[in-house]
Amino acid sequence: MIDHKWEKETMSRRNKIFAAAVVFILIVSIVIFYKENSKEWMHYQKSYNEKMAAKLNDPSYLKAPLRIEQIWLPQLNSTDRCMTCHLGVSNPIAVDEPQPLTTHPGDFLKNHAIDKFGCTVCHQGDGQVVSVEETHGAVHHLNRQLLSKEYAQASCAKCHMELHDRSVTAKDFPGADTFFNGRDLSYQMGCRGCHNINGEGGTIGPELTGLGSRTELAFFLIHDFQHVEGHHTMSHWVYEHFLDPQKIVPGNPELNFAATIMPNFGFTEEQAKSLTIYMLGLRNPKVEGIPYEYIATKKLAQTASGNTRSLQ
Ligand code: HEC
Ligand code: HEC
Ligand code: HEC
Ligand code: HEC
Repeated sequence: MIDHKWEKETMSRRNKIFAAAVVFILIVSIVIFYKENSKEWMHYQKSYNEKMAAKLNDPSYLKAPLRIEQIWLPQLNSTDRCMTCHLGVSNPIAVDEPQPLTTHPGDFLKNHAIDKFGCTVCHQGDGQVVSVEETHGAVHHLNRQLLSKEYAQASCAKCHMELHDRSVTAKDFPGADTFFNGRDLSYQMGCRGCHNINGEGGTIGPELTGLGSRTELAFFLIHDFQHVEGHHTMSHWVYEHFLDPQKIVPGNPELNFAATIMPNFGFTEEQAKSLTIYMLGLRNPKVEGIPYEYIATKKLAQTASGNTRSLQ
């Protein structure tokens, strides 16, 4: 009799545990299902498909499967999933859509086929993640922060070496005007009196050649970020340092560390931005490791009238 009761009790306890486990698994499955089907990028893809279906009067867009879009380029060591959200980059009829669905500005994707170049070769950032926070925020572990807007011009000289040739100007080479402004300003302001840039200049200040190829970590380890107001990234340090070198490097008497002797040139924000883009554009080819087929070999500069002239 007693044994039987004991048996019944264990049975009902087991049943309860089993029921609880079933409920638990059910809840976890629902949460996972919901999360998997309500991702940020899915929302953008749905919205893009709806817009295209309406614009082209083609309901088949509404049935298009939602999926991660990816360009894998082993030569460039990149896996870019940016188009998972930026669906309209090469679609001219998306031009009036808001970001991230709109057409890419300028001729950048016409001159650099999307399936050969991808996105991060110019924009840097993390091509593999598919959330806005991780692709557009200042991500602390990331050694190559996303370059947005004109900042992407800091990548052109990875492949177009002619941008450092002073006889090439913004008129000759479309799409890199802010870089050129910074480059020309560096000559006007006599930066080379103190700094060596690409083999030219003095040694009072640190060498600037290859600055743009440094990783965030390498830069972070040897710079004081205490006085930087923006994100603690290399580009913010350099930008704020141009606006006020003494504020960023005020020195520290306790550590016997002198204040900077770099003059405050009174740069406007626009000038500081141009100089920062130029600085980030000072690349070290050995670090970038761009394969030969990607180096712009033509060395042709487009004149304003549309004729080309050889620089060789
Ligand atoms: C999860 C969707 C998503 C992914 C993935 C994504 N983007 Fe975006 N992107 C957006 C949205 C939304 C905006 C507009 C809102 C904003 O500025 O944050 C945007 C804006 C931008 C801008 C405009 C300037 C800016 O920063 O505000 C650039 C440049 C850009 N994206 C580049 C990229 C690149 C390069 C990648 C891949 C490394 C990428 N995006 C991946 C959603 C995405
Ligand atoms: C050859 C270099 C290059 C490549 C490759 C490239 N971009 Fe860009 N992109 C630029 C430049 C430069 C700008 C800024 C144009 C300007 O000055 O307004 C830009 C602008 C943008 C913008 C708009 C930012 C804004 O200012 O609102 C987005 C979004 C963007 N790119 C996404 C992408 C995506 C996604 C890819 C890959 C499919 C890509 N880009 C590939 C150079 C490039
Ligand atoms: C990964 C290397 C790479 C990057 C980064 C890159 N380009 Fe190019 N670009 C090329 C190659 C390769 C060509 C093809 C023509 C050639 O060989 O010169 C080209 C072609 C062009 C052309 C067409 C005119 C011509 O000379 O044939 C323009 C304009 C141009 N790029 C501008 C830019 C700008 C502006 C940037 C930065 C926003 C940029 N490129 C970034 C490699 C690159
Ligand atoms: C009188 C000499 C002098 C002149 C002129 C000068 N600098 Fe400097 N610069 C320095 C010194 C010294 C440092 C190191 C201390 C510091 O970070 O401020 C420095 C630091 C820098 C840094 C930080 C580099 C690094 O790796 O930490 C950049 C970028 C820079 N200068 C760019 C420029 C540019 C661009 C110009 C011209 C607009 C310029 N400098 C003009 C002396 C000078």
